[in-house]
Amino acid sequence: MRRINVAITGFGGIGRKVAELLLDRQPHYRARYQFDVRVVGVCGSSAGLIDEAGLDKARLGNRAAYTKGLTGSAFVESVPADVLFESSPTDFRTGGAALSYISAALQRRVHVIAISKGALALAYTSLSDVAARQKVALKLSGAAGSALPTIDLLQYNLAGCKISSVAAIVTGTTNVILSEMMDKECSFGEALSEAQHLGIAESDPSLDTDGWDTACKIAIVCNAAFGTAIKVQEMPRQGISGVTLEDVRRWRAGNVMPRLVGVIESVGATYDASVRLELCDETHPFFRVHGRNKAIRVSTDLMGDFVIVGGGSNPYGTAGAALKDFEHVLRDLYRPVE
Ligand SMILES: NC(=O)c1ccc[n+]([C@@H]2O[C@H](COP(=O)([O-])OP(=O)(O)OC[C@H]3O[C@@H](n4cnc5c(N)ncnc54)[C@H](OP(=O)(O)O)[C@@H]3O)[C@@H](O)[C@H]2O)c1
Repeated sequence: MRRINVAITGFGGIGRKVAELLLDRQPHYRARYQFDVRVVGVCGSSAGLIDEAGLDKARLGNRAAYTKGLTGSAFVESVPADVLFESSPTDFRTGGAALSYISAALQRRVHVIAISKGALALAYTSLSDVAARQKVALKLSGAAGSALPTIDLLQYNLAGCKISSVAAIVTGTTNVILSEMMDKECSFGEALSEAQHLGIAESDPSLDTDGWDTACKIAIVCNAAFGTAIKVQEMPRQGISGVTLEDVRRWRAGNVMPRLVGVIESVGATYDASVRLELCDETHPFFRVHGRNKAIRVSTDLMGDFVIVGGGSNPYGTAGAALKDFEHVLRDLYRPVE
């Protein structure tokens, strides 16, 4: 039976869920693909653990046994992986540690499943060029809306269509905050506290509330699906931190719902992207996209218009999206015995 070795960089909430689900699904991978999938290495910011024989949940949970300094290039250059899940913190200004993890892995002909957004938002084109040259996969569902189908919908289901526009609610935190404010007629600060209480806000909430998270995801989709190099910092971008109680009262009286929406529009042979605070009336498909829920609306030339609602923000949804990418990598590697 062929071995598939998995490594995970960034072993926080999402990295741990990915490992847990991979280990739970080992029987499925054996039965479906005849692959013996093992988690052979994980690392955090200061320590890591590698064992080519495979790590179980108990060893992964025992942080005291991690080797100090086994992180960064020391980790990624030595872990004997076929597939890397990258889930270290998002830094869209520099790419952060994720950029060196993804670059080093692709150079070593390791398939990459990216969950952090910074490196892809900054350098998708060059990273995907390396992946193509090295004949390995660079998957990104976890970084582009997670459980909400975005990139697969555009690249696979709508392949060949001319897409005139994409509009998407892709940041759960901002939708929770706006929904709270509208439901309870409360202040931005109170609604943000509720999102933090639910554990879905970024540790620096301005990444969500100033529209950066939506901008990163939209830039990744624009680059990957349309081949248009969009720079996150140059994208016209609105946030929600300036929304006041007076705004909320006015919108409630007018029966419109505020939604933070990432927009991609066809302009001639290329695409423009922006992040906007939109006011949706009752006839708009985003009017009822409430709380953690996300949504995408796509207009095509031949296949009509689509709206998908769902894929709400939670760690299992994100890990599930990354495991969906992994399943596709396994399908591509799988060669049934004649
Ligand atoms: N949470 C979600 O629903 C969601 C959805 C989509 C995408 N994402 C993205 O997924 C990534 C992980 O999110 P999370 O919720 O799991 O965050 P998290 O709980 O804060 O975990 C991040 C982990 O990264 C580790 N780390 C920091 N610097 C590192 C480095 N230089 N090398 C290796 N590891 C490093 C930290 O390890 P130490 O503990 O050792 O410092 C921390 O445990 C982020 O980029 C986030 O934007 C998250």
